Amino acid sequence: MAKTQAKHRRPKQKSAASKFPVAENNPFGIDTAPEVIERDSFVASDQPSTTLFTPVWQDSEHGVWLYRGNCLSIMDRIVERYPDGIFDMIFADPPYFLSNGGITCHAGRMVSVNKGDWDKSRGPEENHNFNREWLKRCQQLLRPNGTVWVTGTMHIIFSIGFAMQELGYKVLNDVIWWKTNPAPHLACRYLQHATETALWARKSEESRHVFHYAEMKRLNGGKQMQNVWRFPSVPRLEKALGGHPTQKPVALLRRMIECCSNPGDLILDPFMGSGSTGVACVETGRRFVGIDVDPTYCETAILRTEAALRSTRQGSVFGSTRLGSSQPTKTEGEPA
Ligand SMILES: C[S@@+](CC[C@H](N)C(=O)[O-])C[C@H]1O[C@@H](n2cnc3c(N)ncnc32)[C@H](O)[C@@H]1O
Repeated sequence: MAKTQAKHRRPKQKSAASKFPVAENNPFGIDTAPEVIERDSFVASDQPSTTLFTPVWQDSEHGVWLYRGNCLSIMDRIVERYPDGIFDMIFADPPYFLSNGGITCHAGRMVSVNKGDWDKSRGPEENHNFNREWLKRCQQLLRPNGTVWVTGTMHIIFSIGFAMQELGYKVLNDVIWWKTNPAPHLACRYLQHATETALWARKSEESRHVFHYAEMKRLNGGKQMQNVWRFPSVPRLEKALGGHPTQKPVALLRRMIECCSNPGDLILDPFMGSGSTGVACVETGRRFVGIDVDPTYCETAILRTEAALRSTRQGSVFGSTRLGSSQPTKTEGEPA
């Protein structure tokens, strides 16, 4: 893996990335290192891709592959190889386009909202085009029974919902993540922001989808699970190996994964950041493909994945996994 400059302070720890030879058992046949990172381009190039991709880290035995690069280009390559789809579930936490020079409150301190170039708005039309482009690829990459989850605040969620309608997804639920410990609103000029939305959608109107109704009911103390989920913001421990300014709590991801996928399923996160989805996949025995354009976040994701694999190895969550595609267990309107 290329050496990178760490932006976040983290304990010195040797990455095991070098232990995994590139292109060994690479599930996508994406074979050489991405020399070109199309950082400034929202839309993948029209030219036939001469740049091939290889994981920056992989553990084929446990089913984890992490890629660095523009998710549009990498998803194009996977579509070329799997035109009928390969993922059982996709989770996406895309840029919210909030890095506009303002301020916010983090851990009781006033800090800049700027998170990086990747989060800068290009204006409503270009932002929407970008959302449509990556959602189009996600739709192609879902297996027929697969579903996608996309998180967002008011800044992007309407664009995401509209793009889903334009593309012919069927939106199943809007889930409200109600934060138990939201950051205070410093300017005191609007209501405190205490929620994020997650849109849950299936590939098309006609497709079926997996929904573990009974498990959700069990998790809700025997009552039907509602679409309002209470979880705290990311616990400090989840940032111990290096954090991300927009990191999602692993508990939230586990809930989504357990709602609609089976052990052994293959899950994609095209904007993996610090790798929270990968950690949740390891913990729940799902296979995972993560993509991020930023080398520092890829490094954090590697460290967190390695730590998750170490701590689950004893419990062997993978011992009984099925490595085939999932069958829908329940469809809409079919309670347990
Ligand atoms: C909202 S953050 C995801 C945070 C993640 N859910 C976590 O828990 O750490 C979005 C991520 O997308 C990455 N990103 C932005 N544009 C990208 C692109 N075109 N391709 C791949 N990654 C991109 C950014 O580097 C950033 O880490």
